[in-house]
Amino acid sequence: MHLIKLSAIASTNSYLKELNSEIPLNDETVVCANSQLSGRGQRGASWYSEPGKSLTFSLLKRYSQLPTEQSVAINLAVSLSVASVLDSLEVPEVSVKWPNDIMSANKKIAGILIENQLQGENIVSSVIGIGINVNNKNFADLPNAGSLLLATGKAYDLDLVIETVGESVFEELRNIHSAPFEIIHSKYESRLFRKGIISEFKRADGTRFNGRIAGVNRSGDLVVELESGVSEKFQLKEIELLL
Ligand code: BTN
Repeated sequence: MHLIKLSAIASTNSYLKELNSEIPLNDETVVCANSQLSGRGQRGASWYSEPGKSLTFSLLKRYSQLPTEQSVAINLAVSLSVASVLDSLEVPEVSVKWPNDIMSANKKIAGILIENQLQGENIVSSVIGIGINVNNKNFADLPNAGSLLLATGKAYDLDLVIETVGESVFEELRNIHSAPFEIIHSKYESRLFRKGIISEFKRADGTRFNGRIAGVNRSGDLVVELESGVSEKFQLKEIELLL
């Protein structure tokens, strides 16, 4: 992997996407920023980070002839890969909150924002943005946020964490063409946060309901079993799991 270190930037994802469209970057280029000023999250949210304590970085992975349907496999595989690195760093109770929040018990430790570049029917590259709370001690307005330090009591070397996560994600994606979807999917479902447990959800219109996560379908939608026994599928913007 080829690491570009920046001191400050609005968003490493936006920067890497722009750079990639202007100059021919090497496959497996990584951009990290000590300070990310306008970090972007899922659902148009912003992403909080603390210079010197959290990691904000983006990975560029190129593919040849990867059909657009494989975006689901990319999403699942990246989450699994980050989750397994956290296991190896001895973080307890690591799970994946759909679609790709990485949790330790009920605290969110890392977030992932994947933006694919398409040409016709194919994905030609992905910009995979990852934010990890590493040595953070407090999160003023984020009651559900955690960090590696808070989860394990240990401080981590930021460069080593980027290196380990980067290598693990790239290794997973090098094989994405041939990786059997069923295997990735079943590993993902076995990591799924609150799977099978009655939970409260919020729809896009603000209404709340109880149900339990049954799994994720082939399109990457969340499948929730409602109290009536009926199952309903949801896309990212249609539902939020309340903690
Ligand atoms: C989420 O959980 O909502 C996704 C958060 C993704 C944050 C990372 S930090 C590095 C990269 N650059 C961004 O602007 N966002 C991603």
